[in-house]
Amino acid sequence: MGSITKCLFPAAGLGTRFLPATKEIPKEMLPLIDRPIIHYGVEEAVNSGCSDVVFVTGRGKRAIEDYFDRSIELENILLERGQKELYDMVVAVSEMARFAYVRQSEPLGLGHAVLCGEQFCESGFFGVILPDDVMIADTPVLRQLVELHERLGGSVVALEEVSPGEVSRYGIARVEPQEDGVYRILDLIEKPSLNEAPSRLAVVGRYLLSPRIFHHLHNLRPGSGGELQLTDAIKSLLGEEVVWGLRYNGLRLDCGTKEGWFKATVTMALENGTLREALFSLLRQRGLMDV
Ligand code: G1P
Repeated sequence: MGSITKCLFPAAGLGTRFLPATKEIPKEMLPLIDRPIIHYGVEEAVNSGCSDVVFVTGRGKRAIEDYFDRSIELENILLERGQKELYDMVVAVSEMARFAYVRQSEPLGLGHAVLCGEQFCESGFFGVILPDDVMIADTPVLRQLVELHERLGGSVVALEEVSPGEVSRYGIARVEPQEDGVYRILDLIEKPSLNEAPSRLAVVGRYLLSPRIFHHLHNLRPGSGGELQLTDAIKSLLGEEVVWGLRYNGLRLDCGTKEGWFKATVTMALENGTLREALFSLLRQRGLMDV
């Protein structure tokens, strides 16, 4: 039992919900205020103790590699112009962690994406962050999973109670309460109908997984939507190792849809003095706000 140092980011999805914006730009690189969406996830991994970040990418995702790499030409120009603060900001991005990339050549599902990272993550427990879910939390959500793992061992998934209308969008857990906010996972069903759903506790974008998961990923058969599902591999892992569910403390901003991304942008703007004022002043001008 110990801390984790590696975090895997599945980032091979086509981003069709954001077309045409994502025709040439990966959806993970769409901005949330002043940083690409994926930057927030990497920051969370680093603040949770990870020093190695593995991106599972695909065609058209090179902008992610360039973003987390040095940008010598830009750095030199900023230095020549004496813009030291911007220079430091740009260099800091490339120094957040050690970055590695592996390609998922076919879109066979989230389970397959994680399996693509096997060579980097097979040596110990590792984190998985789905970058569409940006988490705002005092203690980074992945760190909360790590702390539970350090205390109780085993794998950990982040849980959130969703509305009945939403259960069919998530992996849903059957659980046994263990302690406040902590559950032992007894079963998992990927995208169940409301009738099939064993609870309203959904697995959301953060996992801390045992390396034994790779054995189960290798033996997977297509599941929901004909894809190789991470949920099914975790369900199979339950047969040999304990998996905990943690109702995390924090706010999830789902940037996977246009509406979610817009709400996330406004939520973040409200946290920023200048942008908050700009938003309020616009609403006043439009007669949508009185004070
Ligand atoms: C994936 C997982 C699902 C999980 C969800 C969280 O689904 O398969 O179990 O609940 O992420 O966002 P996707 O959103 O890729 O369809």
